[in-house]
Amino acid sequence: MEANNSKEDSILDALELLKGRRSIRKYKSSPVESEKLEKCLEAAQWAPSASNKQPWEFLIVTDEGKRKKLAKLHPYGKFVAESPVVFIPLTNSTIHAKYHQSDTALATLQFMIQAHSLNLGTCWAGVIGTDFEHKIKKLLKIPEHLQVLALVAVGYADETRSSERKPLTSLVHKESYGLK
Ligand SMILES: Cc1cc2nc3c(=O)[nH]c(=O)nc-3n(C[C@H](O)[C@H](O)[C@H](O)COP(=O)(O)O)c2cc1C
Repeated sequence: MEANNSKEDSILDALELLKGRRSIRKYKSSPVESEKLEKCLEAAQWAPSASNKQPWEFLIVTDEGKRKKLAKLHPYGKFVAESPVVFIPLTNSTIHAKYHQSDTALATLQFMIQAHSLNLGTCWAGVIGTDFEHKIKKLLKIPEHLQVLALVAVGYADETRSSERKPLTSLVHKESYGLK
């Protein structure tokens, strides 16, 4: 009985963590502790991937000049100029042609959830397939065979945000599509 209860408790904690994360677009200038950053990177490293191919690499940018240049290149990611860290997940289609993007997206989400658990804010700004991806690659000397999935701002939040979700009843089907 007791063992069941403690299991339920840990399930609830995960849900609270997941529901409590918000995309943060305003950051304090306080730096991110290297131990915290390391934990977030480890969380990304341990994401599941198709055939455990791990078709990802990670680039960390803290240099202010580079962050400002990245912000100029990304029309919807201006906040990376202010976040003290930018986490850049790189995806390698030569390692897994079919699933490289979804695998690297999972690693990125794991990074973001770990960051949230450490009281750090993040915001994903999509890059892959955009007409400015090649400019980001050039700026950061990223080799041809890698694609830039996103710029992920990381830092201490200087805002509180809310968000909405579609109701589960409109999303979930049972046994066959259309059956509620
Ligand atoms: C693939 C992807 C691309 C995104 N691109 C941007 C972006 O370019 N700029 C931005 O401000 N937010 C971006 N976001 C963040 C979403 O706007 C945000 O996750 C969504 O509004 C839900 O809000 P929440 O994360 O606070 O729950 C992106 C998120 C994802 C998953």
